Amino acid sequence: MEKIVIKGGKALSGEIRASGAKNAVLPIIAASIVGTGTSMIRNVPHLDDVTTMNELLIQMGVQLTVDETTNVEICADHINNPRAPYETVKTMRASILALGPLLTKYGKAEVSLPGGCAIGARPVDIHLKGLEAMGAKIKVENGYIIAKADRLKGCQFYMDKVTVTGTENLLIAATLAKGTTVLENCATEPEVVDLANYLSKMGAKIEGIGSSIIKIEGVEVLHGCEHHIIPDRIEVGTFLVAAAATGGSITINNSKPEDLESVIIKLREAGAEINTTEDTISLNMHGKRPKPVNINTAPHPAFPTDMQAQFCTLNAIANGYSIVTENLFENRFMHINELIRMGADITVAGNQAIINGVKHLNGAPTTATDLRASASLVIAGLVAEGETEIFDIHYIDRGYEVIEEKLNQLGAIIKRVSFT
Ligand code: EPZ
Repeated sequence: MEKIVIKGGKALSGEIRASGAKNAVLPIIAASIVGTGTSMIRNVPHLDDVTTMNELLIQMGVQLTVDETTNVEICADHINNPRAPYETVKTMRASILALGPLLTKYGKAEVSLPGGCAIGARPVDIHLKGLEAMGAKIKVENGYIIAKADRLKGCQFYMDKVTVTGTENLLIAATLAKGTTVLENCATEPEVVDLANYLSKMGAKIEGIGSSIIKIEGVEVLHGCEHHIIPDRIEVGTFLVAAAATGGSITINNSKPEDLESVIIKLREAGAEINTTEDTISLNMHGKRPKPVNINTAPHPAFPTDMQAQFCTLNAIANGYSIVTENLFENRFMHINELIRMGADITVAGNQAIINGVKHLNGAPTTATDLRASASLVIAGLVAEGETEIFDIHYIDRGYEVIEEKLNQLGAIIKRVSFT
């Protein structure tokens, strides 16, 4: 077993390099299934979720190799087991992204129905309704989605909710469908755009990339290609909040400021001085205590739900009151109780956290509950007086590449400790 131990109170300073985006590389590796020939995916982050997705494809019969710089080479011409088993899906919900690719290329798929997770029920009804609208025959038996289709047909489909992986599954499925598909109320997250760009390079005919209406002209075959994954905007945002919370000054290279506009606006509102170039973001807090900022999560380009927990920590030590409203997931305040144990003054009422900023937090033993909640506890440990331990850190390793190494590079006193 491992835990993270942090000695708080040091302002972060220095430079780090952003890793590739987890939520772009997962759909792109899944989408490689629809290609004929080999794809080479570069700038792939070394994360547990990526390893899980790679293993999922390998057990399907995909030839997949990871080189020393974690680039992934994939050839999906010989899939003989179009199946995503329960034991894989239960560790990583993004396995549902295999459904669209398998169905549109092989006409069949068996994917374990993802259960809920810590942050909510996470239904996939829109994924299934969209594939049925394309002519798939879908039933759920013994916890598995059993899907069949001679060949998917283009259709017009409106998504009742803006869903990132729902948009991605249907976008991939439409690329080899017969005829034209128009998807409406699509997610416009940068990760969806990166997937669409990868599919276009493979030969897919896609219009409206980055907008809420995407039109896809089905083709007969798609070819493997080379693709460089975009920087992880949530990793970048997490480090910017950590620097702001500790009153520090950092620069993040290999980032994409345009993907983080809503977060940068909120950090400036909190008192941070932020300068950007095309691929770097510099934040300087000048040792000041943050000002409180109200947060309302919503689909891109609004404030991302994946940055909500981190801003709860920033607001927990801010100079005044703030309200954080979580509009996407019904149970995404699991970090609040842990922050309260560290001395935060927060009240949760429905989907709102009312935060009265305190001068300082106190180090304590804490437990991570989900990926972004664990990031908020790391930030809390960096600002707290004394020592903080974080248990169940496997959540962190799912979405942050060598987080303690990058934080050490910025002067944090943080280490990973094994214990029995
Ligand atoms: C993606 O999850 C991300 N994961 C999540 O990041 C992110 O929090 C979320 O989008 C929102 O931005 C990946 O991309 C792998 P949704 P996803 O479908 O696609 C409802 C992280 O920390 N909904 O956009 O599963 C759903 O209940 C993770 O990296 C339906 O009702 O989220 C939610 O309220 C956490 N029916 C809303 O839509 C459906 O069929 C948005 O969910 C699908 C979704």
